[in-house]
Amino acid sequence: MKMLHLATILLTLSGVLTQSTDWGVKYPDKPICAVRGFSVSIPCSYYYPQQNYQVIEKLWCSMNSNKDQCYGPPYVYNSSSNTNSDFEYAGDDKSNCTLLIHNLQFNNSGTYRFRFITNVTEGKWTGLPGVILQVADLKVSLIRLSGNGTLKQGDSLNLTCDVKCTHSSSQFVWSKNNEQLNTSGPVLHFPALTVRDSGNYTCTWETNEASGSETISLQVEGENPENPDHWPIWIIVVLTAGLIFIIVAIPAVIYNRRFLCERRSVHTEQQKEDDSDIYANVQQKEDDSDIYTNVQQKEDNSDIYANV
Ligand SMILES: *[C@@H]1O[C@H](CO)[C@@H](O)[C@H](O)[C@H]1NC(C)=O
Ligand SMILES: *[C@@H]1O[C@H](CO)[C@@H](O)[C@H](O)[C@H]1NC(C)=O
Ligand SMILES: *[C@@H]1O[C@H](CO)[C@@H](O)[C@H](O)[C@H]1NC(C)=O
Ligand SMILES: *[C@@H]1O[C@H](CO)[C@@H](O)[C@H](O)[C@H]1NC(C)=O
Ligand SMILES: *[C@@H]1O[C@H](CO)[C@@H](O)[C@H](O)[C@H]1NC(C)=O
Ligand SMILES: *[C@@H]1O[C@H](CO)[C@@H](O)[C@H](O)[C@H]1NC(C)=O
Ligand SMILES: *[C@@H]1O[C@H](CO)[C@@H](O)[C@H](O)[C@H]1NC(C)=O
Ligand SMILES: *[C@@H]1O[C@H](CO)[C@@H](O)[C@H](O)[C@H]1NC(C)=O
Repeated sequence: MKMLHLATILLTLSGVLTQSTDWGVKYPDKPICAVRGFSVSIPCSYYYPQQNYQVIEKLWCSMNSNKDQCYGPPYVYNSSSNTNSDFEYAGDDKSNCTLLIHNLQFNNSGTYRFRFITNVTEGKWTGLPGVILQVADLKVSLIRLSGNGTLKQGDSLNLTCDVKCTHSSSQFVWSKNNEQLNTSGPVLHFPALTVRDSGNYTCTWETNEASGSETISLQVEGENPENPDHWPIWIIVVLTAGLIFIIVAIPAVIYNRRFLCERRSVHTEQQKEDDSDIYANVQQKEDDSDIYTNVQQKEDNSDIYANV
């Protein structure tokens, strides 16, 4: 009623024949829930007689800091001043007044209102009552259903994801090591843990306006006989020594044998080469002696000739 009255006064003053229903701002009826450290998009739309007015300033105020009902500063967003902050206007000059708030803190919780100012002096409007924002923590809790101390195989537990807001038409998505799991809902139930359940579990919470995520790491200890914690020291020492022997001694033996064989074969081949040298020398000598013989023969011939 107060709003309608205000609009009527405003329009009377401006002398323009438009109805009070021509001016307005629409917000979500329900409080908006968002996660600390993340962002929220506050949906907002507005309207005014566009043929007679032009919006020249868009403003968002927080009722936490603005005791003046938004008619004066401070504003969390003022389109005329270039404030670099976590409040970002994602709307336009005509009908969309969506506000983004980044890096949310608990003290951002509260009521927010949109105000717009047109080129006509009396053409100003603040949307009542505003929109309520609730900033909460996203918490992943580990609830042990059996066992205590470190997580062991066979233990059972629940991972529970929770955002403490009054309303929640929200969606929970779980993923393990960044791969989405096939479960829905805020609880991830492990009836009996195995070592393979170890990993990073992320709960992603989402609504139409906001989202957030939180990761928890699960480390499940194996209880298999290979676990050296349960073995006496001397067995470990003997096994280690044996292992070292296998790793060091066996390749050494194999290497030595191979080395000896190679040495032997190299020696034999050299001997063969020596033999052939000798053979060649013998051949040469035989040739030499042949030549010598021939020479002898020639000499003999010449002797014969000489004799003739
Ligand atoms: C305001 O803007 C509207 C639309 O652009 C225009 O028709 C009107 O003449 C302007 N009024 C004044 C006072 O500048
Ligand atoms: C918005 O900021 C501008 C520039 O600082 C200032 O001139 C103007 O008065 C502010 N708007 C309101 C409604 O305070
Ligand atoms: C308003 O703007 C936001 C961000 O630009 C967009 O996501 C939203 O769909 C718009 N709303 C409408 C009704 O067009
Ligand atoms: C809100 O809290 C943050 C840190 O948590 C602080 O830096 C900031 O000044 C606070 N804002 C207000 C308006 O109190
Ligand atoms: C751990 O659990 C065992 C058996 O479930 C129980 O006997 C023991 O007292 C528990 N220890 C602690 C510290 O809760
Ligand atoms: C889990 O997260 C920690 C810390 O972010 C990282 O060091 C580790 O590699 C992750 N483990 C897996 C299996 O992704
Ligand atoms: C995922 O869930 C659907 C239905 O809940 C089921 O048919 C499908 O086999 C599941 N897939 C895996 C990989 O568990
Ligand atoms: C653990 O999860 C199961 C399955 O969602 C549920 O039935 C049970 O109530 C939960 N227990 C606790 C203590 O949260």
